[in-house]
Amino acid sequence: MTPPRATEGGGRGLDAVSVDPLIALWLERIGPGDLGPYRLEVEGDVLHLCSPQPDEGRLSVDLMRGSSGYRGARARNERLVRACGVSENTMVVDATGGLGMDAWLLARAGASVRVLEQHPVVAILLADGLRRARTVDSEAVDRITLECVDSRSELLNLKQADAVVYLDPMYPPRRKAALGDRRLRLLAALFAATARTGDDLAGLLAAALATPATRIVLKRPQRVALPEDIPKPTYCLAGRSTRFDVWSRPAHQ
Ligand SMILES: C[S@@+](CC[C@H](N)C(=O)[O-])C[C@H]1O[C@@H](n2cnc3c(N)ncnc32)[C@H](O)[C@@H]1O
Repeated sequence: MTPPRATEGGGRGLDAVSVDPLIALWLERIGPGDLGPYRLEVEGDVLHLCSPQPDEGRLSVDLMRGSSGYRGARARNERLVRACGVSENTMVVDATGGLGMDAWLLARAGASVRVLEQHPVVAILLADGLRRARTVDSEAVDRITLECVDSRSELLNLKQADAVVYLDPMYPPRRKAALGDRRLRLLAALFAATARTGDDLAGLLAAALATPATRIVLKRPQRVALPEDIPKPTYCLAGRSTRFDVWSRPAHQ
């Protein structure tokens, strides 16, 4: 895993560091501006992001249990995996890494996954989750690399025509009564507190479409249409609440 680019300050807001040396190195790069009112805490072997608001709770990445564990064991059945056309040699650039569930499913299905995540706190939570996930499938973890960068500029350097670019920007905000997953709510609150919303769907998609990648996959809420000025996808794989829009292009373009 490539440590994130340096930010101001170092390692503030952390109660104890008992995580492995690579994670400790990443922690040193996190400044107060990246955490806002939130804190990082290590409990046992797990790094948590803790909110000052009791109703927001805390957040860690666990790829081994719950939905990630269950779905990871059956990853080849996932619509995401079909949308990305994963076979053994597939290289996916996951340009909106987040908490890594999708990268994990892709890697467990056999893809090599280059994960790009802009927010250093999210990147370190994911790095910690990947470190612990080695006990379940170390080969899948070895197929994942993680970089803390802005994908919009990073994708400009992508030269691999056989790569798949995958995008899953944060969904548009919903009414309070309909707020989704508590973990994504906490993530959205962290972004708002640290002025890192940055989920620029048009910018991300334009950067992805400008690469030579033969396939670009975008995850969106099922009922939310794409903005008019975005090129129509080649096809969609729709489910109950989400759909995958796929732009598929011949290799020579
Ligand atoms: C909805 S989450 C992705 C969830 C992820 N697919 C998962 O399975 O956990 C969106 C993530 O994309 C990241 N992101 C948004 N714009 C980005 C950019 N330009 N470069 C890198 N990461 C970006 C956000 O920081 C956020 O963590």
